[in-house]
Formats: sequence, structure tokens, C-alpha cells
Amino acid sequence: MNTKNSKMLFNRALRVMVGGVNSPVRAFKGVGGTPLFIERGKGSRIWDADGNKFTDFTCSWGAILLGHSHPEVIRASRNAINNGSSFGAPTLAELQLAEVISERVKTAEMVRLVNSGTEAAMTAIRLSRGYTNKKIIVKFEGNYHGHSDIVLSKAGSGLATLGMPSSAGVTEGCVSDTVTLKYNDVEAFESFIDENGSRVAAVIVEPIAGNMGVIPADTAFLSSLRKKCDQSSCVLIFDEVITGFRVSREGAQGLYGIYPDLSVFGKVIGGGFPIGAVAGRSDIMKHLAPEGPVYQAGTLAGNPVAAAAGLTVLSHLDNGFYKKLEEYGKNIENLIKSAARNNKIEITVNRVGSMFSPFFTASAIKNFNDVLNTKKELYPRFFWSLIKNGIYAPPSPYESYFFTSSHSELDAERFGHAINNAFEDLKNE
Ligand SMILES: Cc1ncc(COP(=O)(O)O)c(C=O)c1O
Repeated sequence: MNTKNSKMLFNRALRVMVGGVNSPVRAFKGVGGTPLFIERGKGSRIWDADGNKFTDFTCSWGAILLGHSHPEVIRASRNAINNGSSFGAPTLAELQLAEVISERVKTAEMVRLVNSGTEAAMTAIRLSRGYTNKKIIVKFEGNYHGHSDIVLSKAGSGLATLGMPSSAGVTEGCVSDTVTLKYNDVEAFESFIDENGSRVAAVIVEPIAGNMGVIPADTAFLSSLRKKCDQSSCVLIFDEVITGFRVSREGAQGLYGIYPDLSVFGKVIGGGFPIGAVAGRSDIMKHLAPEGPVYQAGTLAGNPVAAAAGLTVLSHLDNGFYKKLEEYGKNIENLIKSAARNNKIEITVNRVGSMFSPFFTASAIKNFNDVLNTKKELYPRFFWSLIKNGIYAPPSPYESYFFTSSHSELDAERFGHAINNAFEDLKNE
């Protein structure tokens, strides 16, 4: 495969962009080699700077749900931009987006739009502290809530990829009220809350973790979070930046039937443009400025182009849409399992709808420790084999695979073929 142009661009990028990228995982440190510069995308396909064509199973880390360059999303964002790209004043598009989120997600009584998932999670945490007048934030190992100081310890995603337990530049003071517990461990959580609940402002969780590969929370675990937060007057925050509108019309909360006080959204609701949202109980949300004492603001917040694109995506998401994604996902899961069986490779596939992860192990994967115990060292070879066979997979064993409604039967066939070749490569290693 010719990657001459990507290599040239990456070398050029290294001179002016730290690590050659604007977000760490893109640097391919998790798989080695040179990152591919992507030139364009259409539907399920992307093309790199050397003209290599791939079926995309990363989908902008889950932000793309209808496929790249969807004609209606392009039309809506073009129409919006023709009227101006930003005003820093209220617009109809942001109101409509807030209304749609609120209609779909019953806990989203009120919505505040921001510019990224990071900002949304940070705001939800500050709001919880302002609302409860308590300090401690409970989070879970391997969950990622963006890169704000408060949640940068034992997080998944790029930190896990780079093997960093935390980040330099985060003071002890910043994280002294952050407690990280084991994901899916009811006992550890309940005993912590029983002792410390009166000091806990919020419990923040990815209801389906997507930043250590896909790991769904057990229903019993989420139920315990709900019950204990109620008993101790802690705010329960679901970080649905990945799962919101991807796994059901009402996100992971709709799928599980367990409901948070606040939700954090991003990715899908911007149709590929920068966006984030905090949404939840109006008595809590009303503590945000200008109605309440918790400050939060944004020059580009509720941007009309992002809102128009997001609204268009959401307009496609009926129940039939998710049914199709589920059927497609089942097929993809079976393809992985049968290719693994044929090549005698031990694989566990975790999947919810259109997000999934193959783990190199025969054991069940329930938490970050389980992920660390898989044969992650096989991933780089597996990844490059997929790339050579025309599949663009996430360049880290700690990230999720995604697909869109534009992925076709032919794409599934290509995927099946590529995955079989990748396992064969591993077997012959
Ligand atoms: C669950 C979750 N929360 C928060 C974030 C941060 O969002 P952003 O990258 O838009 O700041 C991410 C990003 O991947 C995420 O997966």
C-alpha cells in the first residue's frame, strides 16, 4: 500500500503540530507506523491522501451516524452557513435542537449546548457541585469524560493508549476530590457511598463504556448507582457523549430503563461539527447562569451550523433506524466470531448496536483490568492487516469500532474478508 503522501504530510505536521496531530490517539502510537491523512469521505468510505480507499469503522470516533457527506446534512449546514456562521446571540436552530433532545430523552427537561463533550462533562460536574454544595466526584476506571482536570485520572481513551495513569499539569488540589472506583463493581461502589455519600456531589459514568473498548455496564450496577445516588442525594450523571442517539432514540438510558439526573451529550448531535450538551432535571439545570449561581458560557455555544447539521441527523433516527443498525451489528459480530473460530484465535466481542470491540481473550470483559489482561500486543499487527485489506479501524486497542446506517452488505463482506485475513496473519506470526 502506497502511503507516500501521508508520510510526507505527517513529517510536515511534526514540525508545527505537536506529535503531528491535534488529538493524541490520531498519532497511531497505539499501533505504530504513520497516521493516514484523510482527504475525503462519502457514506461508509474514506480516502486517504494517497488515494487508498477504506470502509470506515471509526466514523470520527462515533460522531458520524448517517455516513460521511450525507447529502441532507450537507444541504442543511450549507443553508445555515449561507446565513452566517455565528452570531453569539440566540438562534432558532439551537432552540430546535434543544427541543428535539428534550422530546426524545425524557430526563432532558432542560438543555445547555456547548462546544465539546469535554466542556459538557466539566459543566455537568460543576453544576452538580453547585447544586449539592458537596465536593466529591465519583468516576470509574477506564471511563473517559474529556480532558478537564477533574476527571483526568485512570481514564480510558488516549491516556490508556499512551499508558498514562494521569496527566502532568493537573494539580493534586484539582483531583483531591475525585475518586475513581472499579467499573461494574457494585460492592466497591456501595461501600464507598455508604461511608462517604454525604460528601459526594456526583457520580459520573459511561453507561456503555466506549473508551476502553466497548464494555456495557451491568444493569445491576446502573441500578445500584441510581439507588445509592437517591439515598445520598448525589447527582447521577450519565456520560452519553458516545451512546447518546447512537444506541437508541433515548441513548443508553432508554435502552436500560435506568435514568440519570443529568446527561452529557456530544458527537452525534452535531452531525460531525463541534458540539456538546448538558441536559437534565430542570431544578438542577436552573442552577446554571444566568438563572443560577453556577457559571458557564461559550462564544460559539449553540452554533447554528452545528445545530442545523445535528438536527438533520436526529430527524432520521426512528425506531426502524436502530433496528437496522442492530441487525447489521449482529452480522458483523458473527463475522468476527466465525473468522476467529476458523483461525483458532481467542476473541470476545462486546457490542451494543453500532458500537463494538473485539478483545483478544476468551474471557468476559467487564472492567478496565480485564482489558489490560487481554493480548493487546496482537492489536498493532491486526490493525495494519485490516488497513491493508481496506478497513479503517480505530488505531488503539482501547477504542471502539463504529459503523453507520450507510454501511452496506458489500461493506460487511469486505469486513468479513479483511478480518479473516487479519486473523490468518496473526496465526502465521
Ligand atoms: C464518553 C465521552 N465523554 C466525553 C468525551 C469528550 O468529548 P470531546 O472529545 O468532544 O471533548 C468523549 C470523547 O471521546 C467521550 O467518549
